[in-house]
Amino acid sequence: MKKFDPVFTDFPHIVHGGDYNPDQWLDYPDILSEDVRLMKLAGINSATVAIFAWSAIEPQEGVFKLDWLDEVVNNLYKNGIYTILATPSGARPAWLDEKYPEARRTSNTGIKQLHGKRHNHCMSSPIYREKVAKIDSVLAEHFKGNPAVKMWHISNEFSGECFCDLCKQNFRDFLRRKYNNDIKKLNHEWWTGFWSHTYNDFDQIDPPSPIGEDRVHGQNLDWKRFITDITCDFIDNEARTLKAITPDIPVTTNFMGTFEGLDYWKVARHIDVVSWDSYPHFHNPDRSDADVAVEYGLRHDLTRSHLHKPFMLMESTPSCVNWTTVNKMKRPGMHYLASMQVVAHGSDTIQYFQWRKSRGSSEKFHGAVVDHEGSKNTRVFKEVAKLGADLAKLDDVVGTDTKSDVAIIYDWEINWAISDFEGYNERRNYEKTVREFYGCFFNHATNIDFLPLNGDFSKYKMIVAPMMYLVSEEVIDKIEEYVREGGTIVCTYMTGYVNENDLCYLGGWPGGKLRKVFGIWAEELDALYKSERVKNEYLANDLGVCGEFESFDLCEVIHPEGAQIIAEYRSQFYSGMPSVTVNNYGKGKAYYIATRQSVADLEELVCAISDKEGIDRIVPDRLPDGVKVISRTDYDHEYVFITNYSTEERCVEIDDREGLNLLDGKTYSGNITLPGYGVAVLKRKV
Ligand code: GLA
Ligand code: ZN
Repeated sequence: MKKFDPVFTDFPHIVHGGDYNPDQWLDYPDILSEDVRLMKLAGINSATVAIFAWSAIEPQEGVFKLDWLDEVVNNLYKNGIYTILATPSGARPAWLDEKYPEARRTSNTGIKQLHGKRHNHCMSSPIYREKVAKIDSVLAEHFKGNPAVKMWHISNEFSGECFCDLCKQNFRDFLRRKYNNDIKKLNHEWWTGFWSHTYNDFDQIDPPSPIGEDRVHGQNLDWKRFITDITCDFIDNEARTLKAITPDIPVTTNFMGTFEGLDYWKVARHIDVVSWDSYPHFHNPDRSDADVAVEYGLRHDLTRSHLHKPFMLMESTPSCVNWTTVNKMKRPGMHYLASMQVVAHGSDTIQYFQWRKSRGSSEKFHGAVVDHEGSKNTRVFKEVAKLGADLAKLDDVVGTDTKSDVAIIYDWEINWAISDFEGYNERRNYEKTVREFYGCFFNHATNIDFLPLNGDFSKYKMIVAPMMYLVSEEVIDKIEEYVREGGTIVCTYMTGYVNENDLCYLGGWPGGKLRKVFGIWAEELDALYKSERVKNEYLANDLGVCGEFESFDLCEVIHPEGAQIIAEYRSQFYSGMPSVTVNNYGKGKAYYIATRQSVADLEELVCAISDKEGIDRIVPDRLPDGVKVISRTDYDHEYVFITNYSTEERCVEIDDREGLNLLDGKTYSGNITLPGYGVAVLKRKV
């Protein structure tokens, strides 16, 4: 048996908790004691406390009030509820903004923001960093040795950019370091000769701005890298302060899935556990719930892949949110199903935003476990309590791994570069394209990991890298070696167009050695109008796919240079030219899919490749509509999560091995029938 440590090291159970804001209720002692009673009834074992509590902790500069926090934390602990203690740097008290305007952000047109809202501090400001380090160290000193506190939650949902003079200087220093103080090198990599934008000195460079320079792609890319860098530095400043005093308490900060503003592959290296805030929008008549599960499955798997170990669901809503146009409630049973999905993808926690609805202000109508009504009698409370009782049956799952033979590349730098260039505007859709490839596996009971371009490919039988538009020569070398040594890679149109600074490869796409690896040359990329389709036909091939399919959006015009042709275009001037190819290279294979197709057609092709390459499926047969199956493992047992996103009963074929459903205590083999929104977690021998 091989497992990771539980997220709270000596607590081998699924953590069930949520954001808790006693600081808003200090004048309501009855509510505070009722909270503890209700938490126990709901099976809550953790509370994330003090996320935005700076003014309650330090109401005036240098005056710290911790007695209320002590009372809350200790009282929770006495009642079996641990604390994830937050640092309050996500929002600033008025006194701080008034005295230190430097802490407030400056917009990209140079306007200094007023005091208000949250998540809007300057990451560079030395005085803000000092104030944050001070309050963090006061908290850490105070709670050092307190067994109630199990984790630090640094700040909240880091995001955004500041364009003040301090940030501008830091950006210039970042560039000096990156380009070795050589402005000529920068001018080359940014191709600044275009429109005569050559710089003579690093000090002439400003951050991108709509009223200044924002069309130099290399510059925009470096600015985004800088924002990730300075945010990590800010996180380090907090983590270092906490670790110096409480070295044994792990730190996390809450991510936002595929949020575009920060390269989470990099941020993850600065924390001990990755957590994230997941808000799927189910029950949309224009979209199936199973499809929503694919979108969020991708984000859960991506979150787990950052550190390749169980992650934490830091926030979810037990009912509705208050920030979409519709704010639909989760229908009965959906909270249970959606939460079990998160555990299935590798989370060892289910937590909420928020425990109790605030009485006033911005989020008073956001879903919560406890409503303004205040009792345990609400539908939402009862569903949370039922989930709490069932999460307690999943102790065996805690710390288990996810085993996958396939990794999909999802890289922030590719996304940034694809979103920034001019051309193919509505047809780019990097995340959506990755999701369609992800669905090819997730919809067919195959576990998936994600990797960044610079990740370790070596343990995977197959790497899928949709729209790998940006790729450095170093990564190209790694891919070449991976395939030469026996790996299988699947790429698409828009592969290997530019290097890491967004300079186009010369000598034909896909750039550098990739042209040899794929055995093709991509000459041009055609974009189709919305209603246009291009015909394709499969030729005789080893994959067993046959017949016709249609292209839409994008058709790359490619020439074979050694690759075998799997399919060809059958209309337009490129009729008769290849649209899908495979090349045997060294001991491996490189598939090239030159055109975008429907999800169903893509699934047929990618599943055929996956089967051909011997990638494992968790259950052998086709899944009924709306059912998803993925698994976790401790290497002696696997835990097969079968989830039904349809509202109707589904019978799912499983193999003949016996599996104990941890949720109902019964044993199943051959098949299992789930009700609408039903879940089973089968424990079976590997
Ligand atoms: C985010 C924040 C929370 C809250 C929720 C509302 O995830 O971290 O503080 O605002 O959104 O959905
Ligand atoms: Zn700034």
